[in-house]
Amino acid sequence: MTTQSSSRPCPWITIEGVDGAGKSSHVPNIIRQLEKVGFKVVSTREPGGTPLGERLREEILNTPMSLETEVLLAFASRAEHLDKVIRPALDSNTAVVCDRFTDSTYAYQGAGAGYPQEQITRLAEQVQKGMKPDLTLIFDVPPEVSRQRLAGTCKDPDKFESQGQEYFASVRNAYLDIARKEPQRVRVIDSTRPLAEVAAQVEVVLSEFLDQWGPAPSSPSRRHHP
Ligand code: TYD
Repeated sequence: MTTQSSSRPCPWITIEGVDGAGKSSHVPNIIRQLEKVGFKVVSTREPGGTPLGERLREEILNTPMSLETEVLLAFASRAEHLDKVIRPALDSNTAVVCDRFTDSTYAYQGAGAGYPQEQITRLAEQVQKGMKPDLTLIFDVPPEVSRQRLAGTCKDPDKFESQGQEYFASVRNAYLDIARKEPQRVRVIDSTRPLAEVAAQVEVVLSEFLDQWGPAPSSPSRRHHP
């Protein structure tokens, strides 16, 4: 498990997974667990997270466009998000929980749609300037399960949710590859289990991470005065 990888006092946590993996339902618990140990938390998402980013999200999710345009818009939204939300929060002793980040671009535009991985890496370097999440939780389900869940819950599928099983399989495999390559940062959560069991897995992983991370900056044990 990672230790505090940067000099920042508060962690930046990202949540990832194929559509239908159920990741977003765990965000409130993650925030609660962070707050319980004294962190202030900003919760946000990609694409989006800023007024401009949310407008770009609408376009990315619903407007047919070239793959290159899609990648550039995802990174435009990300540049704005880092500048206006993520960096300021981390700089002011606030933890960040972000629903999707650059791993989504590798998984969807890269593995799913075939955009070259090295170009995504170049854009990530340009936009992130060395900034990386401290912990990433990948909610993992096989493509059959994700298709089934989407069919049950999603009335008005966006561009990505309407893709076929093969696309979802590539997206999932890309996530599992990322987890294999970056075991320090990434944890895989078996999201085929019932909701309460998945929540319990998340709680264990997060508490291990927080034990290694150390106390929140505002908690009594970090105060240098009596
Ligand atoms: P998601 O965040 O899961 O929202 P909802 O649950 O409301 O559908 O979906 C956002 C979609 O955006 C998802 O299908 C993946 C896609 N996406 C990309 O294709 N590339 C990216 O870089 C990001 C951040 C998201």
